[in-house]
Amino acid sequence: MTSVRASVFQTPTPDHLESMADVVISVDDAGVISSIAPADQWQSPVDHHLDPSHRLLPGLVDLHIHAPQWPQLGTGLDLPLERWLFDHTFPLESRFADLAFAEMVWADLVPALLRHGTTTAVYYGSIHLAATTALARACLRFGQRAFVGRVAMDHLDGTPGWYRDPSASAAIEASARSIAEIRALGSELVQPIVTPRFIPACSDATLAGLGALADTTGTLVQTHCSESDWEHQYVIDRFGFSDTMALDRFGLMRPNSVLAHGGLLGDSDFERIVERQAGIAHCPLSNAYFGDAVFPLRRALDAGVNVGLGTDIAGGPEPSLMRTAAQAVTSSRMLESGVDPRRVRDDRGVADQRIDVVNAFWLATRGGAEVLGLPVGLLEVGRPFDAIAVDVGGVGGRLWDDVDDDARLFEKLIRSTSADRISHTWVAGALVSQRPG
Ligand code: GUN
Ligand code: FE
Repeated sequence: MTSVRASVFQTPTPDHLESMADVVISVDDAGVISSIAPADQWQSPVDHHLDPSHRLLPGLVDLHIHAPQWPQLGTGLDLPLERWLFDHTFPLESRFADLAFAEMVWADLVPALLRHGTTTAVYYGSIHLAATTALARACLRFGQRAFVGRVAMDHLDGTPGWYRDPSASAAIEASARSIAEIRALGSELVQPIVTPRFIPACSDATLAGLGALADTTGTLVQTHCSESDWEHQYVIDRFGFSDTMALDRFGLMRPNSVLAHGGLLGDSDFERIVERQAGIAHCPLSNAYFGDAVFPLRRALDAGVNVGLGTDIAGGPEPSLMRTAAQAVTSSRMLESGVDPRRVRDDRGVADQRIDVVNAFWLATRGGAEVLGLPVGLLEVGRPFDAIAVDVGGVGGRLWDDVDDDARLFEKLIRSTSADRISHTWVAGALVSQRPG
């Protein structure tokens, strides 16, 4: 189907940076990598020969995006979560009853994220069936691998009267129809995902019905989990225990369930997540605004929890998962050192919390893929060719041949890649985004 000659950076494990100099990757008609060979042993012509200043990387897996919030990216974040939802977010999402408006937003969002290197996207849609199916269609049209969820929300206190499902049975029925409509598109690239917005927005009947729906249809689940003090405490007040236990009782803690945020999760929550083979979408930028704390990423990883990264558009103001990966490193360092200079050094932070850029890129690729149970995130024979080409010649200024070894180059790349440095994006072997020039 296609072939690419390039030098590769990737992270097969959380702690290992692999560098492959000048190889040819060939991809079969199914979009799967069929061979990786040193370029000097390759006889045939290649379709794409990347300039030596470029590196080929696995594509990025964004585990948490609110697609209808794209028009408010970067705004309203001075409010706490519960007010931001009612004052900004629900009014905007309610506009997706208008299919033409929805299609205009999707046609802007999906190509933008492909330009940022997001080859797999896990999307919340809105409560609207037509707009949500249109989002799945847009992903297919533009060639992005995606999970697309029609949002269920019916709680009388947690939602406004003008943006909610009219009843639990209506929420469950519309969610079932959304699964059927997305599956009827007939492509493995885009899958449905059961999406109870979060516990405060859902009645018990809706949560239980959606757990059963995920089970009978074999569909993945996404929701928010222990995101902020308010949300975490709300669940404890309503049920007497935390989000993970409540989600588990409703059948929503399933293999590959995506739990967004989790900043306030404790060790017993981590154990439950591991036991159920669910995973966490760590959204460090969003957490800085709404989370009230830094997610204990190192503790989650050490507990064996599957973790990947999410932008949380538009709770996070940044569409790039690469920038989000860099922020995950920064946030982990701030958790470790602490933030209040009036405290003495030993009492200021939490020991041993840091991650490094290699860990962060693994989270953005294989980590996210493992949360979803997908074979992407690594360029290896037998895996789908989801990849991006980055012009490292331009990140952080020029290349310095006698200074920039692979480790330093990779560090620069993680800390300073933006969309204007991503020259190509491939999904399942198809070139889905290319910068002009
Ligand atoms: N909790 C419930 N809905 C949302 C949302 O849209 N964004 C974030 N960050 N948290 C939520
Ligand atoms: Fe979110």
